Amino acid sequence: MKKLWTLAVLCAASTLPAIAATAFSDAKDAVDYRKAAFQMIRHNTGDIGEMLQGKVTFEAKRVQERADALAALAPLPWAAFATKGTEQGGGDAKAEIWSNMSDFMAKAEQFNTDAKALQVAAQSGDQAKVKAAFGQFRSNCKACHDKYKAD
Ligand code: HEC
Repeated sequence: MKKLWTLAVLCAASTLPAIAATAFSDAKDAVDYRKAAFQMIRHNTGDIGEMLQGKVTFEAKRVQERADALAALAPLPWAAFATKGTEQGGGDAKAEIWSNMSDFMAKAEQFNTDAKALQVAAQSGDQAKVKAAFGQFRSNCKACHDKYKAD
């Protein structure tokens, strides 16, 4: 019995990437998921920002960890905008997202690209390179929020 259970869990885990885009059972799930992803993005972005501003000591290794996390987190929120009903999900997402979905997804794509570039810059350990890549990465937040996020 225990073996079967383990097998079932392993099977479920191995199919995860394939179902990731449709893993949300309802709109509330999807809204919770994307908000959680954005919160993780905010924390990791904020920490690099504070290091670059000199509020906390710049540590190349910590920047690397944050940038690695951001490269993994950046692709996550977007599938959760495709679940039916999330237009009225109670989040801060504006209706303009669904009337301009291709523009919204292009912005998301740019964000992912810049997150990868930040990761590469972080690997160099060079503060000037990190700063330039971070500026580019960070500009995506406002560019998208101004148009597609309430308040
Ligand atoms: C392509 C668009 C887009 C980009 C890029 C983007 N966001 Fe957002 N963000 C949104 C939308 C839309 C919401 C509202 C989601 C909702 O309420 O359902 C949001 C919500 C948030 C929230 C609030 C989550 C909550 O708990 O309600 C935070 C924090 C956030 N974003 C941080 C960031 C940061 C930091 C960046 C850049 C490093 C960023 N976002 C980049 C579209 C974007």
